[in-house]
Amino acid sequence: MLLIQHIDEVEIPELIQLSKKSLGEGYLTIDYFKKVVFSERYYSWKIVDEKNGLIAFLVAYKTSFEEVYEKTGNRNVTEKMEIPLYCLDTMVVETSYRRKGLGKRLINEAIQSLGEGSHYIMYTWKQGEKINMQGIAEFFQFYPLKEYNGFWEKGCVNGEFKCPAKIEKCVCSMVLYYR
Ligand SMILES: CC(C)(COP(=O)(O)OP(=O)(O)OC[C@H]1O[C@@H](n2cnc3c(N)ncnc32)[C@H](O)[C@@H]1OP(=O)(O)O)[C@@H](O)C(=O)NCCC(=O)NCCS
Repeated sequence: MLLIQHIDEVEIPELIQLSKKSLGEGYLTIDYFKKVVFSERYYSWKIVDEKNGLIAFLVAYKTSFEEVYEKTGNRNVTEKMEIPLYCLDTMVVETSYRRKGLGKRLINEAIQSLGEGSHYIMYTWKQGEKINMQGIAEFFQFYPLKEYNGFWEKGCVNGEFKCPAKIEKCVCSMVLYYR
């Protein structure tokens, strides 16, 4: 049986282990979970398989159009400042459980909790022609606002994390989705 619950601090090592394989070594750190995910404006959900333990998680946070503007310089999103805006930040599903609708289940849980009427963004990861969250974004009727080349380049080049896609230089871009 699969259960959706909130993440607990004691699960940080398991969460890091789960994210390492998919997002690269060092991308999600102990500090990210301790200082960021368990701070006030953050929300998180996990899926637990009663047999196998933690198999998926999603982290979201309350943001603002100003913050998106700061990160991206995209003026299009500064217009509706009064509407609650959340960023669906990080989601990982254990490899053997993928494409069974768990990612959709987590996003649905977040939207139900944070409000159907709220607005949402996702900073999605594009490698070549592949966008990691494209199917899910389209399913939930997000639309792509803009692509940003080199969005993660600084951290990637500085070796802040080990990107699984990097060959000699940073090759990924970010596609900003909005709904
Ligand atoms: C992205 C991710 C969370 C999706 O989880 P999931 O449980 O497989 O998602 P779902 O089963 O709900 O699938 C949702 C849709 O996404 C798309 N999708 C999922 N996996 C895909 C794949 N490997 N290739 C292409 N599309 C895919 C499909 O459109 C799918 O719908 P469909 O199965 O009806 O065709 C999972 O693949 C993952 O953990 N990836 C690595 C980490 C990552 O990139 N996280 C996202 C950003 S932090």
